[in-house]
Amino acid sequence: MSEAPAEQTDRNFTLLEGNSSIAAVIDKILRSPPRENPFHVLDLDDIVRKHLNWLQQLPRVKPFYAVKCNDDSAILETLALLGTGFDCASKGEIGKILSLGVNQQRIIYAHPIKSKESLGYAKNKGITTMTFDNELELVKIAEFYPESNLVLRIRHDSDKALVPLGKKFGCDARLEGPQLLDKAKKLNLTVVGISFHVGCGSLDADSFYNAIRAAKVLFQYASSIGYSFSLLDIGGGFPGDAEKPIDEFAKAINRALDEFFPNLADIKVIAEPGRYYVGSAVRLLTVIQGKKIISDPNDSSKMRHVMYYLNDGVFGTLFDWVSLRAINDLERLVPMIIHSKRDEIRFKSTIWGPTCDATDIICENVDFPEHQIGEYVLFENLGAYGMTFATNFNGFPKPGIEVYVRQDTWKALAALKDVNWQDKTIHLLQQCL
Ligand SMILES: Cc1ncc(COP(=O)(O)O)c(C=O)c1O
Repeated sequence: MSEAPAEQTDRNFTLLEGNSSIAAVIDKILRSPPRENPFHVLDLDDIVRKHLNWLQQLPRVKPFYAVKCNDDSAILETLALLGTGFDCASKGEIGKILSLGVNQQRIIYAHPIKSKESLGYAKNKGITTMTFDNELELVKIAEFYPESNLVLRIRHDSDKALVPLGKKFGCDARLEGPQLLDKAKKLNLTVVGISFHVGCGSLDADSFYNAIRAAKVLFQYASSIGYSFSLLDIGGGFPGDAEKPIDEFAKAINRALDEFFPNLADIKVIAEPGRYYVGSAVRLLTVIQGKKIISDPNDSSKMRHVMYYLNDGVFGTLFDWVSLRAINDLERLVPMIIHSKRDEIRFKSTIWGPTCDATDIICENVDFPEHQIGEYVLFENLGAYGMTFATNFNGFPKPGIEVYVRQDTWKALAALKDVNWQDKTIHLLQQCL
């Protein structure tokens, strides 16, 4: 990584010198003239800090970053240099990761349902490890990629997951798990381990403990029918906002691994974190393009409600931000307010996205200080499922991306090219951060 990633349209790459920080960058932008289109400020240092934190808190769990969460090339290149693996869900994602020169062994094809053509593609590209959760998938795999190493995905949703996935994927560990392993054995397929995903935005660390315990039961069953499992994949679901640490999750996982998988030398443990790695790395800067004042019907001089129209919304990069916070915590459903407005009187306000659709609503009836057309509105923690969900609905462009990284971090990343991950990585990153 000796030079900045290739320039893309609407994309800037900046090396931050000395002590300059991302906070100073944001401050400067907020004082600059408004821009027509929204943009993301991507802070690569944040991703590097997250990785260091992962290595320190979960030393036995190798992260395979979930590409679906944010497939920005600077993020993928950074993670490739940091030595993570990658969870890919499609041919497109696999192709993207391979094009970075990442070895196939660092990829898990973690989609339990794969088209016949995708199986052929995976085989052709040498992607050996993939998940499944049902019998017909096994039959398909037996026909199109019988040499693959399979990972049985079990269902183990956290009761407190903001987006549970178990309704769509994963088998019942107790009722279906043993049957599926029997079926795989009959088809002469190689099953190497168990995976699960406790649900996105999980709020409950114990769900990992319980899921690892459920996986252990299937490890034992597998061994009773002649399989020798070597892989435990604990999925994603970790928080990624700046103010949400993973400490409790790490404690629960480490406790479960100590208890149920004490001989870790024989078993590789991986995870598929998406949100954790990138959530806090991106800030979105939008500009107020329009404003409507609704007066009090009894006194037209009084402002009853203000409506703002921003240049990004739920059909752009705010869908996940809005939906997760709507389920989670309505109080927090307010974008950041620019510094100068913090102490000002607040009015009931509704903030809309730019499209003609009335569901393009960012927050409704929230207390917000009065803003003017042309002012910036800042959203934090926008790195997960923002850009990958965005559309061009109504012809509005997706936000541009400005990538920032400190010079020292950049140098450390370049130096990582030649080291094995873990101990040396920790040492190098500690020096630069
Ligand atoms: C199979 C799989 N792995 C990993 C992830 C990433 O989850 P998260 O971003 O919550 O860590 C997802 C998200 O949908 C997923 O479906």
